[in-house]
Amino acid sequence: MATYLQCFWGLSLTLSLYFIQSTATPHVYIVYLGVSHIHDPILTSKYHHQLLSNVFASEEDAKQSILYSYKHSFSGFSAKLNSTQATSLAKMEGVISVFRSKTLQLHTTRSWDFLGLTLDSKVTPWQLAFGDDIVVGVFDTGIWPESESFQEGPRMRPIPPNWKGECVKGERFDPAKDCNRKLIGARYYLKGFEYDYGPLSKSGNPEYRSPRDFLGHGTHTASTAVGSIVKNASFFGLGQGIARGGAPRARLAVYKICWGKKFVGKCSEADILAAFDDALHDGVHVISASFGESPPFRPFFESKAAIGSFHAMQLGITVVFSAGNNDNDEPDPSLVQNVQPWSISVAASSIDRMFPTQILLDNTLSTMDLMGESFITTEVKGKLADSRIYFQDGICDRDYYNTTLNKSAAGKVVLCFSTIGSELSGEAVAAVKMANGLGLIFAAPMTMQIPYVEIIPTVLVNIEQGSKLKDYLAQSPRFPAVQIKPTKTIIGKTPAPTVATFSSRGPSSRTPDILKPDVSAPGVNILAAWPTDTSPTLSPSDKRSVKWNFQSGTSMSCPHVSGAVALIKSAHPNWSPSAIRSALMTTAYTRDTTFDSILAGGSMKVSDPFDIGAGHIDPFKAMDPGLVYDMKTSDYILFLCNMGYTQENIEKIVLPSAGLETCCPKVHKTNTNINYPSITVSNLESTMTIKRTVRNVGQNRNAIYFANIVKPNGVEVVIWPRILFFSWFNEENSYYVTLKPRKKSQGRYDFGEIVWSDGFHHVRSPLVVLVNTTTVDYSDSITQASTI
Ligand SMILES: *[C@@H]1O[C@H](CO)[C@@H](O)[C@H](O)[C@H]1NC(C)=O
Ligand SMILES: *[C@@H]1O[C@H](CO)[C@@H](O)[C@H](O)[C@H]1NC(C)=O
Ligand SMILES: *[C@@H]1O[C@H](CO)[C@@H](O)[C@H](O)[C@H]1NC(C)=O
Ligand SMILES: *[C@@H]1O[C@H](CO)[C@@H](O)[C@H](O)[C@H]1NC(C)=O
Ligand SMILES: *[C@@H]1O[C@H](CO)[C@@H](O)[C@H](O)[C@H]1NC(C)=O
Repeated sequence: MATYLQCFWGLSLTLSLYFIQSTATPHVYIVYLGVSHIHDPILTSKYHHQLLSNVFASEEDAKQSILYSYKHSFSGFSAKLNSTQATSLAKMEGVISVFRSKTLQLHTTRSWDFLGLTLDSKVTPWQLAFGDDIVVGVFDTGIWPESESFQEGPRMRPIPPNWKGECVKGERFDPAKDCNRKLIGARYYLKGFEYDYGPLSKSGNPEYRSPRDFLGHGTHTASTAVGSIVKNASFFGLGQGIARGGAPRARLAVYKICWGKKFVGKCSEADILAAFDDALHDGVHVISASFGESPPFRPFFESKAAIGSFHAMQLGITVVFSAGNNDNDEPDPSLVQNVQPWSISVAASSIDRMFPTQILLDNTLSTMDLMGESFITTEVKGKLADSRIYFQDGICDRDYYNTTLNKSAAGKVVLCFSTIGSELSGEAVAAVKMANGLGLIFAAPMTMQIPYVEIIPTVLVNIEQGSKLKDYLAQSPRFPAVQIKPTKTIIGKTPAPTVATFSSRGPSSRTPDILKPDVSAPGVNILAAWPTDTSPTLSPSDKRSVKWNFQSGTSMSCPHVSGAVALIKSAHPNWSPSAIRSALMTTAYTRDTTFDSILAGGSMKVSDPFDIGAGHIDPFKAMDPGLVYDMKTSDYILFLCNMGYTQENIEKIVLPSAGLETCCPKVHKTNTNINYPSITVSNLESTMTIKRTVRNVGQNRNAIYFANIVKPNGVEVVIWPRILFFSWFNEENSYYVTLKPRKKSQGRYDFGEIVWSDGFHHVRSPLVVLVNTTTVDYSDSITQASTI
């Protein structure tokens, strides 16, 4: 403790100037000032105007330039500034950071034809027992209030009296009609978007200047998190069952911050921060945010996600983010997003449902019969044709369309291979559609197969089946007749879950000592609510209207965790966001439905913590985790100190209630000792001892927990004590883990685990270690007592 209180007044890292490029054209900048010390929004706003007047000729000009004044939950503003003004502001007293408002993307796996996922149809009694005191804030593309998912239940209690949020009026959105005891808040934020992309009315997109959802993404994620129970939901009969959110009784508050631009959701940081400022003040308990930025990742406090979620954490609000999607064929390491340790980052995995679709062929000499996957709702009949007929070298891409030949593919189902050219079915669909094709059979490696709802009938087959089809085509005297039967829904697919190919992987490039993603949740072919005025593919030529749609992405796995958090929060109102995350992480599983290790899509090899974090969530077990690894604001402060943030800046972002032990130790250490529920050592050069503290939250006052260790390869692990005795509720006990490298290695990660068990609870932490040695010390085993 003594060293902890010795303040470190180092030279200020001028982080705030990093992202200001010299340019005369004004951009939207966010000026972040930390915790608001004036507890009056009007005065705070005035202060913002004054500060801004310093870089303008007149106060009037300053007022004109401001987009938002963030004044409820933290202090800051966004304004149109040139680089000279931004630089001047960054140097001013009280300013923590000045950064350009970036545009973020939604985390569905593809852009213009969004994807799909489905809920299983069981409703458990405990889902019905909890949640009506919890408000989940969904930061997304808005809401389709008419969906049955957002109707209030027959006995829904009045809106909690401490709720300060509201429903705002707007285009096709009437609070009196559209809001109810379920949908209790609806706001929208547009200034940042309109600055970047021009007036909404001229964006060439159908959109609503209101909380109403056009893109469908927000309706889908909100219904996954908190949707009311709706019977007989399906996509034209596919995936039929009961639709419901994770916490069907919880309340919903919508913050529309992403808007359609060419059918892609764009989310401006200036708008996102305004939503955080309001949501924290409104009284949400959980925030579900399915968006993120692509690399390079910026320092904390130069991104909305880190700032907004840090303030949320201080107020006891859990922020759940998606881990991000890789749009490539292969999952690459280090692309995981939203990695700040005070929020949750969610990977995506498959569920045990499949959509088999039969393909029948006849070339008059022989017939062929095979199975693919799709969402085909009416039978397709035509002729099968090789992609070579329409595309240069057979590459199914619009740029390779053979315009010399310019044959129409009318009446033809085109066979395309992912391995030639474009890996994504989206481009092939667009290309075949342009060639006026009737349908598409897309051959892709089995591990990457995710069927999507498409504008033309599209069936996925594996490479082996695709090759057989190609042979069959070569042997056929003319185009064979092809018949594609309507898709069926089958439950019980194995292996399941598997980590989705598109799900972004760790390690975290910003915080190598913190494991990210934290957990995985369903994110493949999720069926959830959809606006009936938006087609399921978003394509204007798609005339279908649906109440439910399939989508895939970490965007879809994120609200599964948000729903689970709402249930846990309702059952355990006093648990901090860190305790709730701990419950989800330590009870997560790493075995699939056949009790084998969960596989990682893409490679189909056994998944590791960089794919799946602590594992796949088990919300039921997370309600009773036995022990939790809790963290307070002061722990996160230490984390920031270790990251190199200055004492001065950290103090500005911490609420006075945090106790203000905001003192950075003199020597910056790694963050391995932060009381995170997973243990990551990104550079083990010599023997090292790590401390963790657990709290007894089980149903028994008296509890005895025994440690079980799986050692990472080449690492000696000693845990002390090996037994933890608890004799009262909420008692805390610490233990120490000593790690000693036992091999010569640089730059490879190995994985193990620590499990504390009382026979009933199994409190599991992944142990991730990178040994970095040039010599090996084979001396006697570790004497932990001396190292502590
Ligand atoms: C930035 O704006 C200020 C105030 O309008 C102006 O005085 C200054 O010349 C501008 N700087 C640049 C580089 O354009
Ligand atoms: C369930 O939905 C399907 C497809 O929308 C419909 O055909 C069927 O009649 C519905 N069944 C009931 C019992 O409502
Ligand atoms: C287009 O097809 C014609 C006829 O088969 C062929 O001669 C030509 O080389 C093709 N063009 C390209 C760019 O592949
Ligand atoms: C194909 O030819 C038709 C008629 O000449 C033309 O309208 C169309 O734009 C062409 N398509 C492409 C992709 O070149
Ligand atoms: C391994 O240790 C060396 C020397 O301390 C260091 O330069 C290097 O960055 C380390 N490698 C990794 C992967 O951390």
